Amino acid sequence: MIKLNENYLKLPGSYLFSTIAKKVSEFSQNNPDKKIIRLGIGDVTQPLCPAVISALHSAVDEMANADTFKGYAPDLGYEFLRKAMAENDFRSRGCDIADDEIFISDGAKSDSANIQEIFSADSKIAVCDPVYPVYVDSNVMAGRTGDYDTTSEVWSNVIYMPCLADNNFAPELPKETPDLIYLCFPNNPTGATITKSELQKWVDYANKNGAVIIYDAAYEAYISEDDVPHSIYECEGARTCAIELRSFSKNAGFTGLRLGATIIPHDLKTKDGVEVHKLWARRHGTKYNGAPYIVQKAGEACYSAEGKAQLKEQVAYYMKNASYIYNGLKNAGYTVSGGVNSPYIWLRTPDNMTSWEFFDYLLDKANVVGTPGSGFGPSGEHYFRLTAFGTYENTVEAVDRIAKL
Ligand code: MLT
Repeated sequence: MIKLNENYLKLPGSYLFSTIAKKVSEFSQNNPDKKIIRLGIGDVTQPLCPAVISALHSAVDEMANADTFKGYAPDLGYEFLRKAMAENDFRSRGCDIADDEIFISDGAKSDSANIQEIFSADSKIAVCDPVYPVYVDSNVMAGRTGDYDTTSEVWSNVIYMPCLADNNFAPELPKETPDLIYLCFPNNPTGATITKSELQKWVDYANKNGAVIIYDAAYEAYISEDDVPHSIYECEGARTCAIELRSFSKNAGFTGLRLGATIIPHDLKTKDGVEVHKLWARRHGTKYNGAPYIVQKAGEACYSAEGKAQLKEQVAYYMKNASYIYNGLKNAGYTVSGGVNSPYIWLRTPDNMTSWEFFDYLLDKANVVGTPGSGFGPSGEHYFRLTAFGTYENTVEAVDRIAKL
């Protein structure tokens, strides 16, 4: 008799972006003459920058030579990449992070889903609402979330922190104390940010209550305002309460290459003095054989002078799209937010349409794909997300089509 992990059976429906892909594919089959513009999933469209391409070519050539060939990568990551990240992403910003506190991986999505494994099965999680669905779903798989209420679409054992217009889409400190707090800034999906002093309050709260913050900084490259922190380790005391997730997908266009990192300071310890770092190293060693050498060399190239300059241009390209979407929709009468420190624009659906009604309406009438806000959680209902990761030409066309509806 086949016995399945019952927790997986509790997961409602299919994964948000798979549902969208299926709907769009059906629409496309029924309307082969229509040009569909995809501003749904946050997938990049610009080619990898020349510094990265050149590093990839050189690394491939090394693989062809017996003297420089590489087999298994070190499971925690190559020293050259850990050092480049520690210096450029952290120490240059005044964050006290050592090379060996950085664990290289194949992306922030898998790390954000896997990190919960090293915490107790009865840990209580707190999430922003709306939220990147992976945080909640991975905890459902781990059996931590209680029962699902199909009417309110919430899990009984999850603390939801609503992020709505009246709190500037920023969560408030929860009344009930969680064990694990997921924060993502710049936020996916709302595009909202919090200042360094606001983030400091979360760090102080976590330290006071013995909670761990899992801080997703995948979109930090899009920050344009000075008082918005790029890393949680800019806050005092974060070394004893925070894990940070980093991604090369959005700041360097690696969605297809796959590269990310998880940062766990040695000071993050249980009350008995056990380092969380040790457990993640043990987990990585057992379940993971390391990101490919070729891809890690491509990651290192992002930190060269030319790589940095080229990536800055790439981010500016997408931010020009973000500003076109933001202003175009605002001028067309939509209520919009995000798009300033973030490649995501969050808009209120018109005429009180539900998020999915607006999805169908936009696909049908403007042939534009976006992401329904309710797919990210109950507080996302009546909202909708558009991504700035399209080409500029398609972005302009999409916004003009929406404005004309
Ligand atoms: C999104 O569209 O929310 C992201 O691209 C999904 C991801 O990064 O996995």
